[in-house]
Amino acid sequence: MSPAPSPGRWLRWPDGETTPRFAYGADYNPEQWPREVWPEDVALMREAGVTVVSLAIFSWARIQPAEDTWDFGWLDEVMDLLHAGGIAVDLATATASPPPWLTARHPEILPVTASGETVWPGARQHWRPTSPVFREHALRLVDALARRYADHPALAAWHVNNELGCHNVYDYSDDAARAFRAWARARYGSLDALNHAWGTAFWSQRYTDWEQLLPPRLAASHPNPTQQLDFKRFSSDALLDHLRAERDVLRRLTPEVPVTTNFMVMGETRGMNYADWAAEVDFVANDHYVLPGPQALDELSFSANLTGHLAGGRPWFLMEHATSAVNWQPVNLAKEPGELARDSLLHVAHGADAVCFFQWRQSAAGAEKYHSAMVPHAGSDSEVFRSVVALGRQLAELAPLVGSGRHPARAAILFDWESWWASEQDSHPTSRLRYRQEALDWYSAFLALGVRADVIPVGAGLHGYDVVVAPVLHLVPGPLAKELTRYVEGGGHLVTTYFSGIVDENDHAWLGGYPGALRDLLGIRIEEFAPLPDGAAVALDDGTEAGLTGTLWSDRVELTDPTAEVLASYASGALAGRPAVTRRGTGAGSAAYVSTRLGVEGLTGVLARLLDAAGVTAELPEAARGRVELVVRADAEAAYWFLVNRTAEPVEVPDVAGDLLAGRRSGAAPDAPVRLDPRGVAVLRRPLG
Ligand code: GAL
Repeated sequence: MSPAPSPGRWLRWPDGETTPRFAYGADYNPEQWPREVWPEDVALMREAGVTVVSLAIFSWARIQPAEDTWDFGWLDEVMDLLHAGGIAVDLATATASPPPWLTARHPEILPVTASGETVWPGARQHWRPTSPVFREHALRLVDALARRYADHPALAAWHVNNELGCHNVYDYSDDAARAFRAWARARYGSLDALNHAWGTAFWSQRYTDWEQLLPPRLAASHPNPTQQLDFKRFSSDALLDHLRAERDVLRRLTPEVPVTTNFMVMGETRGMNYADWAAEVDFVANDHYVLPGPQALDELSFSANLTGHLAGGRPWFLMEHATSAVNWQPVNLAKEPGELARDSLLHVAHGADAVCFFQWRQSAAGAEKYHSAMVPHAGSDSEVFRSVVALGRQLAELAPLVGSGRHPARAAILFDWESWWASEQDSHPTSRLRYRQEALDWYSAFLALGVRADVIPVGAGLHGYDVVVAPVLHLVPGPLAKELTRYVEGGGHLVTTYFSGIVDENDHAWLGGYPGALRDLLGIRIEEFAPLPDGAAVALDDGTEAGLTGTLWSDRVELTDPTAEVLASYASGALAGRPAVTRRGTGAGSAAYVSTRLGVEGLTGVLARLLDAAGVTAELPEAARGRVELVVRADAEAAYWFLVNRTAEPVEVPDVAGDLLAGRRSGAAPDAPVRLDPRGVAVLRRPLG
């Protein structure tokens, strides 16, 4: 039996030191460099204020060059060197990329695509999460590493595998088929239950034996939607099962060392339901890379915010981000001056107590040789390294806020992996809907208004929030509908959108008119969806001169409750004159519905009205709204206000009290405006009570 998971356990600093400090560092891949470079690495790490590195992530082939040959000598030396330099190690289990000897001998561990092609070795992560052969070899390696380093004083945490599911989340092999059958059996218990859930009366799909079940491989037409949804659930669970298997070996051999793995709460990475995963690690770790575009910074904030809530409001570990360009986008942009620190500190604002990069020293060879690092190709005499050193210093100054949690906002955005998966399946009214983009647009609207919003996973509890926005909450099982109803009846203000409340957990439509599970709560009924063709837009009259514009979707909304009011109506097209945005008041609470895609600008206006009606106001002074993001952490004694300049211009923020831990005021008076440099960040300590 492995000990029970204990989420919230933090890095074990090797010296037993408990003074608060940030974990600051990077992935460290010394095996790519001659050993003469290693002492220079440690010296530069010290100069940069590095306190931790993630080691051995892709070292399997080096540690175990053949099935029964082990080479730990080099790793012993690196561990000792780091320890002597006062640097802690987040030691990877090295299972992310199986070595050539293993795949040559056991090609049956290689993943298979939906159309039956083998995913060959040559890159990384070419392994089936459900392969018993891979599992056996991986656990043997984990066991060997754990025994070898159990008592090493540098060992601060275990890093399971790496970005589980980054490249291998969907595997359609025979191993996957076997495991999927076992998973379905455990979920449904009987074939009757499965046939009901999967709606197999449709297209003659009735199963009479578990052996007939398959992953949704390449099919003649749209595969069964519930089978597809269950395969997504199963694939997330299969990787989670691998995480647990490695973790259990580690917990058995080194019970006092915390275990984590790096999530990818980032962009369109959607395969892993991290709301299920978070409780399985001792502390949550995340990787984030900026996706260029108008919402790049909003997306960073959204991801960091959600990660903080997956971590239950406790501090979390930013395991990877980039000092500058990455190598895997169509065009890889270098960061502008100030961006490196600003991006890092925005993660900190959202609760990260660790700021780490991929990677320490930029590779000279391999697919990532043009990916930035803490020490670039140019060497330590470079802007990037100087910025890295400056950030290390700044983090040391901010140490007093290490350990503080997130300070709850009055509004929240509800985020749900199952709705994400289900709303974007094929054979839907439109293939253009993007779940996360809609959620991000609402977040951008909050940022534009200067109102803080938490991004919380379904199941986290709505208590304490005055306003909850649930964009495209497509999949609503009965208990979730009840939770939302209770929330509104208790005085909460719920806002939801098109294509919400449509199906139950089996992806079966709620009958009687849309939005099914939320129909009565919203006081509306929709008989038919009216998605819009590409390029089409509808005008909305919201009482303002400019009006609003809807794209992607519209609904033929009918009010069914006398207390429901129309906040905006369609002003063009076939639905002209009909309600487009509605709100039903229920005593102290309300439930609002937005039936089309309004984009950030349109949502900002609608959100302002809804927040106003709910009595939620911006904490940020008006002059700074939109240009500055306010994020608040807090401990028992103080709140820490982070003012993050979102622009490339200087910004002055008036009327903010508090002692500055970072940044400066524009004059000597204690209430002089806080002056933010372009992309600058200020941190104020404001005593509570
Ligand atoms: C991550 C990965 C790292 C590195 C990085 C590059 O997905 O964990 O090993 O490849 O991306 O951005």
